[in-house]
Amino acid sequence: MIKRAAATQTVPNDLEPFWIPFTANRAFKKAPRLIARAKDMHYYTPEGRALLDAAAGLWCTNAGHNREPIVAAIQAQAAELDYAPAFQFSHPKAFELAARVAALAPGDLDHVFFCNSGSEAVDTALKIALAYHNVRGQAARTRLIGRERGYHGVGFGGISVGGIVNNRKHFGALLAGVDHLPSTYNREQQAFTKGEPEWGAHLADELERIVALHDASTVAAVIVEPMAGSTGVLPAPKGYLPRLRAICDKHGILLIFDEVITGFGRLGHAFAAERYGVIPDMICFAKGITSGSVPMGGVIARKGIYDAFMTGPEHVVELFHGYTYSAHPLACAAGLATLDLYREENLFARAKQIEPKWSDAAMSLKGLPNVLDIRTVGLTAGIDLASRPDAAGRRGYDAMVRAFHEDGIMIRAVGDTLAVSPPLIVSQAQIDEIFQKLANIIRAVA
Ligand SMILES: Cc1ncc(COP(=O)(O)O)c(C=O)c1O
Repeated sequence: MIKRAAATQTVPNDLEPFWIPFTANRAFKKAPRLIARAKDMHYYTPEGRALLDAAAGLWCTNAGHNREPIVAAIQAQAAELDYAPAFQFSHPKAFELAARVAALAPGDLDHVFFCNSGSEAVDTALKIALAYHNVRGQAARTRLIGRERGYHGVGFGGISVGGIVNNRKHFGALLAGVDHLPSTYNREQQAFTKGEPEWGAHLADELERIVALHDASTVAAVIVEPMAGSTGVLPAPKGYLPRLRAICDKHGILLIFDEVITGFGRLGHAFAAERYGVIPDMICFAKGITSGSVPMGGVIARKGIYDAFMTGPEHVVELFHGYTYSAHPLACAAGLATLDLYREENLFARAKQIEPKWSDAAMSLKGLPNVLDIRTVGLTAGIDLASRPDAAGRRGYDAMVRAFHEDGIMIRAVGDTLAVSPPLIVSQAQIDEIFQKLANIIRAVA
């Protein structure tokens, strides 16, 4: 088999060695969905076919693809400083970016710990929560509470607090001492709601039941997504997050928002915490921080959490945690350029402004064959399709495959739920195009 140099190779001649994550490998390798290039709202296949990106890559390219200022910043950084050690040394852009991220966060969320992904952000936040209680003399607070249908990445911490059975069932006993709140989704009560459903705030009270079972003195933290993206766009019911906040305050439990998807404009604000008027103790972020251009994640912590660690001899490390590539120079340069672009183009406010048009367009799919529910919030939509008899997930998969090969659009399928979340630069005409194409696809897989 002849292996050509990567630079000249548009279509690989050997698909076997790459074990593709979260993908049906055998089916993919029979009919690959390859992307060679991107610009603004579009991807292009190696043959040059355009695909409208209705998924923001993987919920991450919020500024659109290959935006010039971000590309230029990455190129300049690569030429200037490739790498600086993340431990005991640092570089100026790490501090600059931390200050910029902290300034976007509400309240006294003002210290930023960098890592490289959403999964690492979640594990970092969980570890900070445990260590925080420990350094304050409450070492018995070790329990972590997640939520059914939550997705917090794939680290052992994240899958333990996460609530997706397929992500958990093959991986042993996971972390000990984890409990779960019930999912906030109930189709009977909430079907076809735009934005936050009226029904469901009372589900936060389940936290009281869990706390009563274990005793507050053993509970470290609660982690939830303000909108559960990966399980099909499940927005928080009205009043739910403030209620969680109040119960956590009552019992001295830390509240962590996993804003890996909802951060950086997806719900019309820098962070969803702002949309809901709730200040969590920590925010996990990733994805949109660099508009997907360079891997980066992080945790924003309230001042009191950081301060709790700043005791003892000054030459001693305060938190034994970090990654070789924490605050990598390329990621910091990309992050700074991305935040500039969000600000210059007012993209968070833009997302908020077009949300009503977006949700109206999404709801136009109501009544099409097999559509059981449509949910929207910010620039996201989840469309539940009825499963084919004895083939759960097949209709959604067929829709995603057809969208790529025949309809020139990239969408995500989570089981039989179609999820769309375009870059925040999407135009009105492109919103119409997304939902017209989705209508065709839904009819085609009926
Ligand atoms: C809410 C949430 N947390 C964590 C993650 C994990 O992020 P990553 O894939 O960068 O590890 C994701 C990814 O989609 C996510 O949606």
